[in-house]
Amino acid sequence: MRNALGSVDTVLLLGGRSEIGLAIVERLVRRGARRVVLAVRGASAPRENGASASVKDGGAAVPVEDLERLGAEVHVLDFDAARPETHAALIEEAAARAGDLDVVIPAFGVLGSQAVYDADPVAAARDVAVNFGGHVSIGLAAAGRLREQGHGTLVVLSSVAGVRVRKANFVYGSAKAGLDGFAQGLADALHGSGARVVVVRPGFVIGRMTRGMTPAPMSVTAAEVADAVVEALDTRQGTVWVPARLRLAFAVMRLLPRPIWRRLPR
Ligand SMILES: NC(=O)c1ccc[n+]([C@@H]2O[C@H](COP(=O)([O-])OP(=O)(O)OC[C@H]3O[C@@H](n4cnc5c(N)ncnc54)[C@H](OP(=O)(O)O)[C@@H]3O)[C@@H](O)[C@H]2O)c1
Repeated sequence: MRNALGSVDTVLLLGGRSEIGLAIVERLVRRGARRVVLAVRGASAPRENGASASVKDGGAAVPVEDLERLGAEVHVLDFDAARPETHAALIEEAAARAGDLDVVIPAFGVLGSQAVYDADPVAAARDVAVNFGGHVSIGLAAAGRLREQGHGTLVVLSSVAGVRVRKANFVYGSAKAGLDGFAQGLADALHGSGARVVVVRPGFVIGRMTRGMTPAPMSVTAAEVADAVVEALDTRQGTVWVPARLRLAFAVMRLLPRPIWRRLPR
């Protein structure tokens, strides 16, 4: 439930090691959010010294202590986006731990390589199941909860990759196109319920997911995406492009004839 000043009190981050997701959560905690649920792969693995140490699973740490130091009560739950049959229970467990969910951020995803997908269609289907299917099942489960509460915001991390799909990464892009359509439809379905959806369309974000890649024009950082999301939560914007000028750029790019579009290098 939003606190007495109307700011966010409770946040659920799905994909609890996501750079963008954690940048949003950190900002919300600095602004007063007091209960955070981080849903991550491998959370059931034993913690160091049995204490509330950062949970590690071969990859980035889950910054439990950092968020606790900022004043939040942090819960860590096990979550696998590729197991949709577990998603409704996960949402209920998060609400049981933290109370009404003010902001839910599904921030999981895999970028993958088009060349790998071309050679391994099964890997492509598996990643689409995470990048699209996982968002559909967790999004619907979260929406059910927010509708019941009569308030709360689902932040959907779409991408300009889905606004017009490019041959360079069309498996990832098509999953994002599906996700963007799902998010818009869900936003309309929730209209009038008190719950809402923010659709976020970042361009190239310099960070872990894009490590080793040459930044595209108009690249941003996770911090810039997080600032834009927090502003959208404040102003009740429904769609956010990051940076904002991508909106105009894509208004033009959407209209480029296919023979030109398919020749673009990236
Ligand atoms: N980075 C960009 O350029 C960019 C641009 C536009 C949109 N986005 C979208 O923004 C979101 C966040 O991206 P990011 O840059 O923060 O990426 P990130 O730092 O690489 O985080 C992605 C997270 O997804 C998690 N994940 C992957 N598969 C999962 C699964 N099956 N179950 C549970 N968690 C899973 C990963 O968990 P582990 O830590 O366990 O591996 C990782 O923590 C993604 O949806 C991405 O597509 C990113």
